[in-house]
Amino acid sequence: MCGIVGYIGNQKASPILINGLLRLEYRGYDSAGISTIEKNGLSIMKDKGRVKNLYNLEGIDNLTGTIGIAHTRWATHGKPSQENSHPHMDNSKTFSVVHNGIIENYHELRNFLTEKGYTFYSQTDTEVIPNLVHYYYNKDEKNDDLKFLRAVKNACSDLKGSYAIEIICKNHPNCMIVTRKDSPLVIGKGENENYISSDIPAILSFTKNFYLLDDFEFAILTTNSVDFYNKNLEHIQKETKSIEWNAASAEKDGYEDFMLKEIYEQPTAIRETIGAKFNDSSKCEFDELNFTKEYLSSLNKIYFIACGTAMHAGLVGKNIMEKLCKIPTEVDVASEFRYRDPLVDNKTLCIFISQSGETADTIAALKLCKEKGAKTLAVSNVIGSSITREADYSIYTHAGPEIAVASTKAYTSQVVLVAILAIYFAQILELDNKQINDLKKDIIELPKKIEETLKISENVKGFSKKIYQEKDVFFLGRGVDEAVAKEGSLKLKEISYIHSESYPAGELKHGPIALIENGITVVSIITEKHLVEKMISNIQEVITRGAKTLVITNQNVDENMFDMTIKIPETNSFISPILSIIPLQLLSYYISKEKGLDVDKPRNLAKSVTVE
Ligand code: F6R
Repeated sequence: MCGIVGYIGNQKASPILINGLLRLEYRGYDSAGISTIEKNGLSIMKDKGRVKNLYNLEGIDNLTGTIGIAHTRWATHGKPSQENSHPHMDNSKTFSVVHNGIIENYHELRNFLTEKGYTFYSQTDTEVIPNLVHYYYNKDEKNDDLKFLRAVKNACSDLKGSYAIEIICKNHPNCMIVTRKDSPLVIGKGENENYISSDIPAILSFTKNFYLLDDFEFAILTTNSVDFYNKNLEHIQKETKSIEWNAASAEKDGYEDFMLKEIYEQPTAIRETIGAKFNDSSKCEFDELNFTKEYLSSLNKIYFIACGTAMHAGLVGKNIMEKLCKIPTEVDVASEFRYRDPLVDNKTLCIFISQSGETADTIAALKLCKEKGAKTLAVSNVIGSSITREADYSIYTHAGPEIAVASTKAYTSQVVLVAILAIYFAQILELDNKQINDLKKDIIELPKKIEETLKISENVKGFSKKIYQEKDVFFLGRGVDEAVAKEGSLKLKEISYIHSESYPAGELKHGPIALIENGITVVSIITEKHLVEKMISNIQEVITRGAKTLVITNQNVDENMFDMTIKIPETNSFISPILSIIPLQLLSYYISKEKGLDVDKPRNLAKSVTVE
């Protein structure tokens, strides 16, 4: 995970680097550091803890260098400490490096370098990189312009694992080299200055023009140029891509936290994601897709593969694909799928859902499906992200940058996009027109209904005050509501640190009901008409055992039975999760605030999980 930033230009680098790190802090916040090239050589300032600690480091204000690299860490190898913080230097203090990823063979490389006389001062895998570069740099007898690049390239050829690396050298004070494999890195092109970042929002206020680097490619940045090289160090050309996000969308905009802002951005995110897909009254089209009736009819199954919240969007997708398109659909977490020897072949369509498009397990699962001959489709929020570059087809949610670690608007946008995809498939397959048209109509009405739901859901604030000190909370649902129960439970765990479990309500009596005792909180979701009675019976069973109950529903239920009921607008049950999750997002948010926690940056978590 970790975030990296780089700057080269005519301005003082350190404030730009720290500013970039603050925006990337959601990727990890165990330690932070910057390295700049000063008149007297390389400088490194780093410390454990949050990025803001950098402001207190002695001498940080005296830095004048106009080239620098920076890092905010999510610890993998070595505990969070000053010596394990990045940047790391080689023994001779010639090279300074920041790295996002994991070097899997670092033990072997460390032994090799130790035998050559190098000493290591940290427990990190990263420290082998500057020393390896130094080793190759010294071995190279040619003293031409590409000596630095050759050393980086040779060092990278020895690395196994994943990396996005920035490296500066005191002997080459006017350039910076970057490279990547399986970890994200974008290059922002400015006027007489250039930027590096792990992702776009961190440098959006400086530029909207970006270069994307592919695996094993290298870039040399100077103030006025960016030169690209492939893995054989042949010069290659790249075009910039422009991004439509505006800088304000990466700011809190008056909200106390990004998460709250993002919850309230859901009407816009859904509106933008629906976009012009239904403008033409006849058919819903995806410009990026060209599926035929013959291909879709030949499918043995659709697989949704993703992690965490994105996987929960896949669970909702399964319900729609099976019921609307009549295609058998499975859902799997990417980290399990890839080691399962899954039954995937050229008659399987594999759909990968990923907000960031950089989740390592999801990317690995995608590569596996391609090897097995399946067609792959990415659903992502980030144009040009790794997953979209690997997949055969990509479609995009238009949720704008999601900064809070806990996903909200990206999830609901994923669900709506998958529902639209299902309509597109159902139309090609010439399936039930009425069902298609009903769903279309309900999707169009969604943004308004989300606005209504947001107003109604404010009422959970009171309930959050009653339960914020609880140790355990249960979430129940049946059918599609069970997927929402899972997502509600995940939101609560990650930002409030309250232990929570989600269950299909009918499963309770097969074990978990033993945990229900006086005063325990049970949250239930009821949006499927044919399951109302069954749900009510299950809730009655926990009430009998003394549970406090919160019910989220759009059905006619006897509200007097429950401690609190949130009545959300009615909609098609295929997309009801988009509305029913909103009170649960707000419940988790208010509980976290009540406990005085950092909502946007929950402990141990990072936004983009680029390690396996
Ligand atoms: C939870 C959350 C995570 C992500 C998961 C996948 O709120 O955000 O569970 O959904 O890490 O991330 P992406 O969608 O970027 O692949």
